[in-house]
Amino acid sequence: MAFEVTRVGTPAELAAALAVRTRVFVEEQHVPVEEEIDRFDAEPWVRADVLQVIGRLDGTVIATARLLLATHDGGYPHIGRVAVLAEHRGRGYGATIMRALQDAARGLGFPGVTLAAQTHAIPFYEGLGYVARGPVYLDAGIEHRDMDLVL
Ligand code: COA
Repeated sequence: MAFEVTRVGTPAELAAALAVRTRVFVEEQHVPVEEEIDRFDAEPWVRADVLQVIGRLDGTVIATARLLLATHDGGYPHIGRVAVLAEHRGRGYGATIMRALQDAARGLGFPGVTLAAQTHAIPFYEGLGYVARGPVYLDAGIEHRDMDLVL
């Protein structure tokens, strides 16, 4: 199976990314849709402050994630909205899409990346080298903890 990660560059690709996020975060995790879709999802191909990607498996979009480039948290850009459709999990696609964003951040000269991990996903991020920081907190009713990766 060929899995390819590319930048969201067209309205059709954005629609495909948002369809994955709607299935994963809104339908599966019950995040309110008005919290899930935000200003960084408006024409990401013309924005300098976000790098949004999709992962295609044999041509079909099954995964997505995005990197917010406005630096905060000590100068680290923020990876978020990491989602793989349920039926395709556990086959390395989530790790592949993470590495694509990490490589992009490194290429832009950032010294690290940060993210807010849902606590169930902490082992996934630890496997990629991320280290947890600070307390557990609630966001959209889901437990999170901040994590960092030095690039
Ligand atoms: N607990 C423990 N380990 C996990 C894990 C979990 N929940 N999810 C993945 N892993 C491990 C895998 O076993 C694998 O380990 P290995 O390298 O030793 O084989 C490694 O992490 C990579 O897993 P991968 O197959 O690339 O992950 P995935 O494609 O299933 O994607 C998520 C992981 C979290 C993106 C996916 O489960 C998902 O979309 N979940 C719902 C949305 C979500 O919660 N996103 C995160 C928001 S912070």
